[in-house]
Amino acid sequence: MKRTFYTFVRMIRTGWVLARHDALVPSEYTKSVPAVARVLGSLSRIFTLRNLSVNPGERLALALEKLGPAYIKFGQILSTRGDMLDPVFVEGLSRLKDKVPPFSMKAAEDIILKEWGVKWQDKLSTFSQPIAAASIAQVHKATLQNGEVVAIKILRPNIHKRMRNDMDVLHMVAAIAENLIPSSKRLGPKKFVETADRAVMLELDLRLEAAAASELSEPAKETRLFNVPEIHWNYGSKNILVTEWIEGTSVSDKKILEKGKFNQKEIAKKVMQSFLACSFDYGVFHADMHEGNMIIDAKEQLWLVDFGILGRLAPAEQRFHAEILYGFLMRDYTRIAEVHFEAGYVPTHHSIEDFASALRSVGEPIFGQTAENVAMTKVLLQLFEITEIFDMQMQPQLIMLQKTMMQTEGVCRRLDPEFDMWEISRPVVEKSMKRELGPQGRINDLLRGLSKARRTLEILPGATEDIAALAKAWSNGEIDLSKNKASTNKRPSNASWKIIAMLSSTVVVVMSGIWMVG
Ligand SMILES: Nc1ncnc2c1ncn2[C@@H]1O[C@H](COP(=O)(O)OP(=O)(O)O)[C@@H](O)[C@H]1O
Ligand SMILES: [Mg+2]
Repeated sequence: MKRTFYTFVRMIRTGWVLARHDALVPSEYTKSVPAVARVLGSLSRIFTLRNLSVNPGERLALALEKLGPAYIKFGQILSTRGDMLDPVFVEGLSRLKDKVPPFSMKAAEDIILKEWGVKWQDKLSTFSQPIAAASIAQVHKATLQNGEVVAIKILRPNIHKRMRNDMDVLHMVAAIAENLIPSSKRLGPKKFVETADRAVMLELDLRLEAAAASELSEPAKETRLFNVPEIHWNYGSKNILVTEWIEGTSVSDKKILEKGKFNQKEIAKKVMQSFLACSFDYGVFHADMHEGNMIIDAKEQLWLVDFGILGRLAPAEQRFHAEILYGFLMRDYTRIAEVHFEAGYVPTHHSIEDFASALRSVGEPIFGQTAENVAMTKVLLQLFEITEIFDMQMQPQLIMLQKTMMQTEGVCRRLDPEFDMWEISRPVVEKSMKRELGPQGRINDLLRGLSKARRTLEILPGATEDIAALAKAWSNGEIDLSKNKASTNKRPSNASWKIIAMLSSTVVVVMSGIWMVG
């Protein structure tokens, strides 16, 4: 009760800050909201600050920055929902920066003492002032006793409690919105806040970030397109992450763009190909691909840091996305449409031909144009529009993939204004398609089929025994089939379900076999 009361008070404060930025019911939207919200909006504008941005997304971003870490994270997640937000909001919110003053050295030292049980001087020979600070954590440069230079990321003090409090407010707002504005249900605010809540809470455990880094180090080593800093596991905890220090220039540093110093085209290519290879070949990708999370070393090697958000694609999703990109590259719109229908993403009452024709309207204008004129981002935003017309249910992981692809393309185009997404992605996508649809793909499918078959074989010996028992029981007249069900006093029901399980698994295996051969 007390907690609900505090949450309510915090919600009033949130409302106040939003009203000050004309972001509660932005003036641009008064016509499209119910009467109650319109009146509320007009009243709130009495308190609005002057000289605010004309873009409502930027006004919201400013208000969220004022409100603190949870709201900043929430806004960043919201900015990825191009499928449900007006493009002006996507644009405004995507500029949301979490530039926050660092917390004190004393607080950082206290956290280290609490986590390591000893003072930093006992394990480190140097420990710098914070070199970067954001809403959730800050990073220090340090040297271990053995001379190795490391980066130490430390979560903000009390961040868990602050996040919980702010998230409670967002849950309350979402619940109120769903109850008072029935039309908001379509966007699913409650579910959205739940998803954002989970994503934020995951970022609040640096052990998970360490695990994510280690997971991405496999594609890094195999593709040699990018690198991941080594993790020093024995220094890590929920609140501390220690990694190898990467000496180099951040891609967000203006120096990267200076003529003659770096080969920007080559860097852009590496950035995009790393992202595509991870997502299509390994089904796992870095989902926060902005310039600040990329470092270029003296050998012009690309390093990725900050693994707080990891995207994952199941094999079917990997293939789905690779086929879409490949379809666009080959201008095979019917195939792209079929892929959507096969995956069950478009309800069957729509026609494949209509969908293919809508896709053609997105794809065709691209060809024959120079890369500078056609951003993948635009194509994806148009795709989102189509998906709405065709009642397509977007899967969260695919939305995340598309958002990250847009973000990555943005980085590449800033590095190389002539960046041609299609040309750069072609080798990776073709390789992935060859693997999926060629002999290797068949082998993978076969292996997936075999693992199902193995499970079937595991239950088979037991089932054979049971079949024998069942046959015996039947011949002894212990089974009465006349009542349309097998009933016996000797373990028959157990045997029956095993037979059914065996038969259905066999059907699955045979069906997969037919599908693979076909
Ligand atoms: N291993 C590292 N080596 C060198 N610099 C690093 C390393 N890790 C992080 N940094 C620097 O610290 C900044 C913040 O780290 P990051 O992990 O991105 O934290 P945040 O989640 O707060 O963005 C990075 O943008 C980068 O400049
Ligand atoms: Mg970062």
